[in-house]
Order: sequence, then structure tokens, then C-alpha cells
Amino acid sequence: MMEIEGLTVRFGGVVPLDGVTVRFEAGTCGLIGPNGAGKTTFFNVLSGFVAPVAGSVKAFGEDLLALAHFRRARWGLRRTFQTEQAIEELSVVDNVAMMLEHVPGSGNAAARREAAIEAIEFVGIDVDPDTKVGTLPARDRRLVEVARAVVGKPRLVLLDEPAAGLPDEETEHLGQVIRRIPEATGAQVILVEHDMTLVGACCETTAVLDFGKLIASGPTDEVLRDEQVIKAYLGTEEPA
Ligand SMILES: Nc1ncnc2c1ncn2[C@@H]1O[C@H](COP(=O)(O)OP(=O)(O)OP(=O)(O)O)[C@@H](O)[C@H]1O
Ligand SMILES: [Mg+2]
Repeated sequence: MMEIEGLTVRFGGVVPLDGVTVRFEAGTCGLIGPNGAGKTTFFNVLSGFVAPVAGSVKAFGEDLLALAHFRRARWGLRRTFQTEQAIEELSVVDNVAMMLEHVPGSGNAAARREAAIEAIEFVGIDVDPDTKVGTLPARDRRLVEVARAVVGKPRLVLLDEPAAGLPDEETEHLGQVIRRIPEATGAQVILVEHDMTLVGACCETTAVLDFGKLIASGPTDEVLRDEQVIKAYLGTEEPA
């Protein structure tokens, strides 16, 4: 469970997060909002790329912001980015195994490879794990990003628009994978997405940011019907 209180970030005159207080229950939770709402900034705070000027973040009762950013990966924090991070010239398995290189307790190269293969099977990439990422179709490349975020023993998995650019039929498989992460790994998942079908399929609860402020939070179906939420999306992308 994640408890966020009064979280505020300032970039000069821009306030991408403005006193955000919200709770993310165990399982997969959604985080939505129009472009520029502050969703990625929120992930940047959790992963330590951005320091807030105020507020606190408790993850399973621990003060996450007190951990140096490089310790957060060891602690079990994983994330994907809006742009793909896998290295095209490396194989699928090496791209996934490298996430464990500096994580104590993940064993030698053979053990890391084994964990990587497990993650690759979990996300359902059906190719030889020694295939170079650069040769894969878009769907599999997106799945590599997710495999990199679930390999080993994650505790908190932050997914930043994992379905961006995928056609609907391929998003469905991704949704099934994301839904299974908490049960399969024990991790809590926060899903940032503009695809409301995917959010509806994966997240029991969803929080909504607009101009850095929390405007709604609760059961996903209720949140997606909320008038203020629909209004926030008008002119950008409407929730389906
Ligand atoms: N490093 C930065 N310096 C200055 N402003 C920034 C920086 N990073 C983000 N911003 C601004 O903060 C606001 C929130 O951006 P953020 O990337 O968190 O939005 P988002 O909700 O992830 O949007 P999107 O859905 O487009 O990815 C925007 O106004 C953005 O321009
Ligand atoms: Mg973003």
C-alpha cells in the first residue's frame, strides 16, 4: 500500500504536483489525467529523479523518499518509461537480466539469466530469448519493457504508458499480463495510461490528476464516470 501526503513539486513557476494526497491500495491501481497533468513527474518522485519541495511517500509503511535513489531499485522499485529503454543490439534475455546486475541477492550471471527467462515467459514473449530486441515487433518490444520491470523480486512496479502505440488487439494481451503482476510477484502496480479500456481492465481503483492536483480517486468505473474527470479530459482525450 502506498500513502502519499501533500506531495508538491516545483519547476520554477510550474507546479506539476500540487499538494497531492492519495492512497494506492494493494494490487494494480490506475493513475490517469490529461497530458501534462503530472503523472510522469509523480513516477519521477517515486523513483528519485525529482525531489519534491514538500510531502511524504510511504510505501508499505516505509518512508520511500528517505531512501537514496540507487537504493530504491534494491528495495524493489521498478519502472518503465514512456520511451523504450531496452538496448536494441542486445538480446531479450540480456536486456532483462541487466536489471538485476546491481541488485544484491540476485545471484550470479546464470541465476540472473534464469530469473530473466522466467520474466520473459511471464509476459509471454514467444521468441528465442537470445533474439536481439531490435528485430522484434512493437508488441514484443513493449513486453520486454514490462519484463524488465517485473524481473527478480519487485515490490513496486510503475508502468508509464506501457501500451502507447499498440493496436487494440495487442493491448488486450498486455492488459492480462499487467493484471497478473500483483498475484505472480507480490508487487504493487501503478499503471499510468491514456487507454481507458486498459485502465478499466487492469485497475480496481484509479486516481486522477489534473494540472498537478488530485481531482478524483476511487473505484475505476465510478472515477471514469465522474463529471469532473470527463471535463478534465475534454479537449485532450476522452475516457472511453
Ligand atoms: N524537468 C522539467 N522541467 C520543467 N517542467 C517540467 C519538467 N518535467 C515536466 N515538466 C512539466 O510538468 C508538467 C507535468 O509533466 P508530466 O510529464 O509529469 O505530465 P504527464 O501527466 O506525464 O503528461 P503525459 O500524459 O503527456 O505524459 C508539464 O507542464 C511539464 O511541461
Ligand atoms: Mg507522462
